[in-house]
Amino acid sequence: MERGPELYAKIGAEKLRAVVTDFYSRVFGDLMIGFIFEGKDRARLIEKEWELAATFLGAPDVKYTGRPMRTAHAQSPIFGGHFERRLQILRETMRDNQVDADVQRVWIEHTQALRSQITRDKGSECKDSQAVETPKLAVAPPPPDPDKKIKLGRR
Ligand code: HEM
Repeated sequence: MERGPELYAKIGAEKLRAVVTDFYSRVFGDLMIGFIFEGKDRARLIEKEWELAATFLGAPDVKYTGRPMRTAHAQSPIFGGHFERRLQILRETMRDNQVDADVQRVWIEHTQALRSQITRDKGSECKDSQAVETPKLAVAPPPPDPDKKIKLGRR
């Protein structure tokens, strides 16, 4: 099922707000990405994310009033791994809240489509990871000597 009022009706305004609220409490408390949200206005984030999600799911009467994605994220140090972590938290939040399967799919697709506006870092995309070569050192380090004493520093 594609985006539109019918898809939006599968979650509805109230449940969408509950899911977004749960999502942001997980995000703010997350060991890996929580620090990026330190000091940010959680209530505003919930409100804007709710508007954005309602709009792309197909709510007929909601308008996104936040900043453009690129502008909103330009000042934050967001790497590919942070993006992936947020995506994973979103998946888990939707699963734990028994969000409708079509809504889950559209939401994830929408998130992935925005990636280049959130981070320019391609480092943590999993596809093509085989193609990334391990960097080679200019000079090969000597092989480790198993009998060598470990230096513990000066006495
Ligand atoms: C496609 C994925 C994402 C979407 C849809 C999204 C959505 C949003 C929205 C709607 C806002 C509020 C904009 C406003 O205040 O006008 C926002 C702000 C913010 N987002 Fe995201 N976001 C995404 C990815 C990320 C990631 C991966 C991170 C970091 C791990 C992140 C960190 C932040 C922070 C820190 C703010 C607050 C910026 C500020 O007020 O200075 N976002 N995001």
